[in-house]
Amino acid sequence: MQMRTHTCGQVDTGSLGEEVELVGWVNRRRDHGGVIFVDLRDRDGLVQVVFDPDDPAMFAVAETLRNEFVIQVRGRVRRRPEGTDNPNIRSGEIEVLGLALTVLNRAEPLPFQLDDERVGEEHRLRYRYLDLRRPEMLERLRLRHRVTSAMRRYLDDADFIDVETPVLTKATPEGARDYLVPSRTHPGEFFALPQSPQLFKQLLMVSGIERYYQIVKCFRDEDLRADRQPEFTQLDLEMSFADEETVMDLIEDMMRHLFIEAVEVALPDPLPRLTWHEAMRRFGSDKPDLRIPLELVDVADLVKDVDFKVFSGPANDPRGRVAALHVPQGGKMPRSQIDDYTKYVSIFGARGLAYIKVNDAAKGREGLQSPILKFLTDEAIAGILERTGAADGDLIFFGADKAKVVNEALGALRVRLGHDLDMVEHSFKALWVVDFPMFEYDEKDGRNYALHHPFTAPHPEDVERLESDPESVRSRAYDFVLNGFELGGGSVRIHDPDMQQRVFTQLGIDKTEAQEKFGFLLDALKYGAPPMAGVAFGLDRVAMLMSGSSSIRDVIAFPKTQSAACPLTDAPGEIDPAALRELSIRVRLPPKEDKG
Ligand code: AMO
Ligand code: AMP
Repeated sequence: MQMRTHTCGQVDTGSLGEEVELVGWVNRRRDHGGVIFVDLRDRDGLVQVVFDPDDPAMFAVAETLRNEFVIQVRGRVRRRPEGTDNPNIRSGEIEVLGLALTVLNRAEPLPFQLDDERVGEEHRLRYRYLDLRRPEMLERLRLRHRVTSAMRRYLDDADFIDVETPVLTKATPEGARDYLVPSRTHPGEFFALPQSPQLFKQLLMVSGIERYYQIVKCFRDEDLRADRQPEFTQLDLEMSFADEETVMDLIEDMMRHLFIEAVEVALPDPLPRLTWHEAMRRFGSDKPDLRIPLELVDVADLVKDVDFKVFSGPANDPRGRVAALHVPQGGKMPRSQIDDYTKYVSIFGARGLAYIKVNDAAKGREGLQSPILKFLTDEAIAGILERTGAADGDLIFFGADKAKVVNEALGALRVRLGHDLDMVEHSFKALWVVDFPMFEYDEKDGRNYALHHPFTAPHPEDVERLESDPESVRSRAYDFVLNGFELGGGSVRIHDPDMQQRVFTQLGIDKTEAQEKFGFLLDALKYGAPPMAGVAFGLDRVAMLMSGSSSIRDVIAFPKTQSAACPLTDAPGEIDPAALRELSIRVRLPPKEDKG
């Protein structure tokens, strides 16, 4: 039996005079001069229902209505009285005169007012099912659905096959900690939840699937941020007989298509590409936000010989960098704000934030204001002004340290300044970052880590230096970046077992360990593995940016908190000792800290 003839969002002047049946929630009840008005809400919209006292029985029921009661109404559509139209909603010119009213369910007063902006996120997450009643939340879920269904349609049309891969599996290294699941049938042994389906999709290529995709949950135990969740969703895909151009062309076209379908935004064709080195040099980041017009400029050569160790040290260190960040019209910035920024860059390890204010460049030194002026030669100053293009009224910031520190500090400062000084263009700026280094050297551990994952192929022109100069080897990886977020990343894979072992060796994984951890992959590569390449997109991040949200939590129906917990179900929780015994597990909590 249909409980309604229309949704609340469907009734408008086209139904004038008709009888309609509606269901939904009482969004608000108002009493006005003996008449009761109910704004009835369903997922499509709102409609105003009027109950007259003419029908005393029905009116008595209407009087019992409270916010969020679930009701069914039969009524006649009529024009609203002159001057009471609501142009903000589709049903704004009509109202429904109630003829019959059924209460389908009552509701206790909600633990918070849905539209009260002061309610904290933790409380909202505790009652997430109520928070999702807000139209903007519903709209985000709908947008997300538009995105996934457009993705599926696009990839189905391109002959991809959707294949499911296991969730109870072995560790797939993507750089985070694993979530582990104990095995009852193999005491003392654990499954790992996949950080990505990376290894399985490579195996599927060995199987001859040729074009695979999956919209799939991935699990990573890592520090959470606004764009990270412990479980998140990837659009994961892989192609055989493909290289980086095949994958990037397909993805570019798909993304242009998605942005048109989901948010009516046209991305440029083709998208710009930056090498990793250029991205780091100009923006201090491998995921640059191109909406911000500020850029870093290298000045090490100009300050190599100055009598200021802070600058000359890194300028002469092969792993060092001295860079300037020119801020047009930044000269008015008060000292307190510069101090704030100095504190901000210290989060990224910067030990200071030198600056020069350009008051009147024609006056030379006299026209400048800076705590480091006394250390710089006239030539160095002239060179810096020329290279940055700084004019009167401008400000130049400096970072000098290991290149990694300078890039992180000035890269983050650039973004912060963009927002603080209102310089962020209102648009979508997408690009590819390519030619990543294969490895990232970790000073603390004294060893190389894979910048992507260990299955990424090295650049053919660099491969001869894999052992002699690994840090100079580029990989065949590519990242899709939008407005400062890494939305997707992928690579051409290694399909030769010997090459795979050479890369493992560089990562400190010897033959025995490789066999133990990835023996199944190395075996598979021996039996006719085709050349292959692929990519994975963070679906939550795509939906976040498209919906203009500031956190991926806003586009996930039931997200976790910053501490990776779920206030709604109260997960994670303790386990019954009997269940633990069955799993051969004993819990040993760390000693409680003495709060003294
Ligand atoms: P990668 O590790 O770059 O690549 O992940 C792909 C994309 O997944 C998203 N992502 C996340 N989103 C939310 N929360 C997280 N914790 C999180 N971690 C990652 C990002 C990222 O760009 N197997 C490779 C892909 C490949 O090589 O094909 C992989 O997983 O948007
Ligand atoms: P000091 O001589 O330490 O007082 O530093 C002089 C100026 O250089 C101050 O404005 C510091 O903020 C700045 N400074 C110090 N260390 C660095 C650094 N590593 N990079 C950039 N600026 C720095």
